[in-house]
Amino acid sequence: MIHIIIVSVLVIVSTFLFGTFVKVENLLPVQASVQGEFIDGLFGIHIWLIAFFFSLIVVFMLYSVVVFRRRKGEKGSGAYMTGNHNLEIVWTVIPLVIVLYLAVIGATSLADVERRDPEAMVVDVFASQWNWRFEYEDGTSSDVLVLPNGRQTLLRLQSSDVIHSFFVPEFRVKQDVLPGGEAFMRELRITPTLEGDFKVRCAEICGQLHYSMLANVQVVSTNEFDIWLNSQSACDLSAEECGQLAAQQYGCLACHTVDGSVVVGPSWLGVTGTERTFEDGSTATVDADYLLKSITDPDSQVVAGFPASVMPQNFTEILSEEQIQQITAFILSLE
Ligand code: CUA
Repeated sequence: MIHIIIVSVLVIVSTFLFGTFVKVENLLPVQASVQGEFIDGLFGIHIWLIAFFFSLIVVFMLYSVVVFRRRKGEKGSGAYMTGNHNLEIVWTVIPLVIVLYLAVIGATSLADVERRDPEAMVVDVFASQWNWRFEYEDGTSSDVLVLPNGRQTLLRLQSSDVIHSFFVPEFRVKQDVLPGGEAFMRELRITPTLEGDFKVRCAEICGQLHYSMLANVQVVSTNEFDIWLNSQSACDLSAEECGQLAAQQYGCLACHTVDGSVVVGPSWLGVTGTERTFEDGSTATVDADYLLKSITDPDSQVVAGFPASVMPQNFTEILSEEQIQQITAFILSLE
């Protein structure tokens, strides 16, 4: 009897120490969304359960090692025990109750995370190797995800090539982004609770530059958000400058540098007037027509030594004719 009391006390003390020192706040980045509160709630409950079972197992293991050790002069394997009904009932019923409890809180938390706000702002998220693009309801396209604090945003996610995954650790929720058009579109709801700068991190291995598939997230006040959205309308700079912005927004610069170094595709620096040799041995001189064709039908002229089919094939759909001309003007201006 005294043994059981000592062991129980040790289990309780150990559980308490484990659960107190291993806290959600210490393990995860700062929590910045309404949805994240439910995830962290689940996380906290699981940590306490893990603390209890870890303590139970370790304390009883040490207890057995000490109390049932072979003493001087003892021989054989010790007493042989067969079934113990009470013990079996206990270790079946308790885990069953715990698992049912986890199922219930899991289901209710999922419902909480997916709760719809009919007033939610809609943002279309387009993922491609290796770039994120965000399109707002008024047609604004941005490479930064700007969100108003305290308002639910419905993200509708699509990929134009392979599977990516949208994950902002501070928001806690994560969603795979699938190719295949509207039919495979996925949704994610986020209600930010903290103003600040965060990052989208692609959470699905998606090729060579997966590690650098990041996008900035800015959570700002509703007021600042409205100002930002208004400032994003049509580009009124010079053609070259608008082209530079578009090249940044649409991810061109993820693969093409403007300093002469080679990342994935050819660098844009000083290409104007140069002679290109293609995989099939034919050649062409870089001018506006050549660049136009490279953007709208990239696989028709793959420069020797570079991989085919890496360039998105759908720029005629996502860029306006004007934007393509602006990007071309920007490339031609790089000398
Ligand atoms: Cu996209 Cu990893």
